[in-house]
Parts: sequence; C-alpha cells; structure tokens
Amino acid sequence: MNTYSPLLFSGSSHETLAHHIASQLAIPLGRIALNKFPDGEIKVEIQENVKGRHVFILQSTGLHPSEYLMELLLIIDALKRSAAKSITAVIPYFAYSRQDRKDKPGVPITAKLIANLLSASGLTRLITMDLHSSQIEGFFEIPVDHLKGHGLLAAAITRQMRDNFIVVAPDVGSIKFAKKVANLLHAEFVVIEKQRISSHKVKMNLIGNLSKNQVVIIDDMCSTAGTLVAAASLCKELGAKQISAAITHGIFSEDALGKIEKSPIECLLVTDTLPPFDRYASSPKIEVVTIAPTIAQAIQEWVGI
Ligand code: R5P
Repeated sequence: MNTYSPLLFSGSSHETLAHHIASQLAIPLGRIALNKFPDGEIKVEIQENVKGRHVFILQSTGLHPSEYLMELLLIIDALKRSAAKSITAVIPYFAYSRQDRKDKPGVPITAKLIANLLSASGLTRLITMDLHSSQIEGFFEIPVDHLKGHGLLAAAITRQMRDNFIVVAPDVGSIKFAKKVANLLHAEFVVIEKQRISSHKVKMNLIGNLSKNQVVIIDDMCSTAGTLVAAASLCKELGAKQISAAITHGIFSEDALGKIEKSPIECLLVTDTLPPFDRYASSPKIEVVTIAPTIAQAIQEWVGI
C-alpha cells in the first residue's frame, strides 16, 4: 500500500460493514480514535497521514441519527484540516431523508439541512443508497453517487422464492422502487393505497386484484413495521398463501421486529445498510443481503483501485 493509496475510515455506526468493504478493496481501515469528552461531546482524532489522499468515511446514519451525523461532521472537518485531497462520505442509510419537503407550515426540510451541513463541513462527494426520494440528490452541490438496491433485492428474491408471485407496493411512494424490482423479475405488480392515521397506524386498500397466491411486498425502508405488517395482513385477507417482503433499509424502531415475527410475513429480505447483527438474533424470518461489494465497486470506480 503506498502513501497515496485511498483510505477508508469507519465511524462508529457500522464497523462490520466498513471491515467488509475494506476487505473487498484489499485495503486496511484507517486508524481513527472516536471517544467522548466527559460532558458527552464527541472527540475525534485521525491517526493517519491523509495529506493529498482520497479519503472515504463509512457512516450509516440510522439508529442514532443525530449522534452519527454529528460524528460524521467532525470526522470530515478533521480530514479537511489535515489536507485530504478529497473526502467522500459513504452513507448507506441517509437519515432525516423523510422530511424532504415542506408539507405543512412550521416544519423544517431536514434532508436539505443535512445536505448543507455536510457540504459546509468540507465533504467533496457522497455515496449513498436508495434515498427516500431522488430529489434529495439535487439538495447537494457536490457529486452524489446514488446507488440502487433493487438489483440486489431482485437477485435475493429469485434465490428465495418459486416463480409465479406478484410484487406489491405498499404505498404510492414505493411504486417506482417496487416496479423496478417487478420489472427485473418479470413479475406482475399491484399497488396498495395507504392512508397514514398516525406514525404507528395506517389504513390500506388494494388497487387492482391479487392474482397470485404468492406475494412479495417491496419498500425502501421499514421503521415501525406498521406499513409492512398492515400490507401483509391485507394480502392475507385477500387470499395470499405465502407472503414475503424485501426492503433496503431495516431501521426497525421500537417493537418492529416483534411485530414482523407475529405477522403473516414468512421471510423478510433486508440489506445491511444498517447494522443487523445482534438485533436480528431472535428474528429467524430475516435474511440479510450485503451491500459491501456494491459499495466497494463504487469506491473502486471513483479512485481506480
Ligand atoms: C414511506 O414513505 C416509506 O416508504 C415507508 O413505507 C415507511 O417509512 C415505513 O414506515 P413504517 O415501518 O413506520 O410504517
């Protein structure tokens, strides 16, 4: 490894994924000390010479979004002050992305604010995956590699399921994503109309017919699991015999995993944009699809290693 080869650092959100990506790239992870001051402030120290080097930081901003975002901003600032040639954040799950427009008076546009903060800290490029809406790319004035997970999910569905299933989009917002998966699988496709009653409660109505016994529900993310579980229950009521689901981002807040275990969903495919390991120990329905090779390839294409 020469002194000018690229460096990958890991924030504290998802070290396992950072190690997998580093091993795909055959580079060691950069040394960095991440600690806290006694009052809780985050303390960052880069322990490598980054001067003149292309530097990447893996930080998934789910689970503890505010903490991980702040840590990422401090890491970027430290790298900028140490004269890195370019600073790319790899943010597999981009938090605060659901508030991407002013849908009522008095609310912030959090996705735009986070984009501004990242740029102001010195970020020169972003690699991310399945943003909640693609207009978020336009919130940045720096290059954004917006990777898509539908190919990975479609391949995993092919390995898991027999032919002859129907793809279900559990709300209008997920149509584009679910349709891409359905097209790759040459599967039929239906949409559910979702009405959100509260952050935990939704009302659903299927538009069209459930023409198959086997269904796979596709969404970009699962938070409280209200959407997935209600969609699965509706499919069951309408006669589905085997129900699976596939999503990119497994946030699984509160008792989401418990709800999925009790639901009619038999298998849930989820990528590792968020750390799965201990959380899924008692969730036999969950199958993890890794994004490490996809991220490694994006880094390779950027720096030519
Ligand atoms: C909505 O716009 C998203 O695509 C997901 O359907 C939603 O965020 C899932 O949230 P929950 O799991 O809390 O229903």
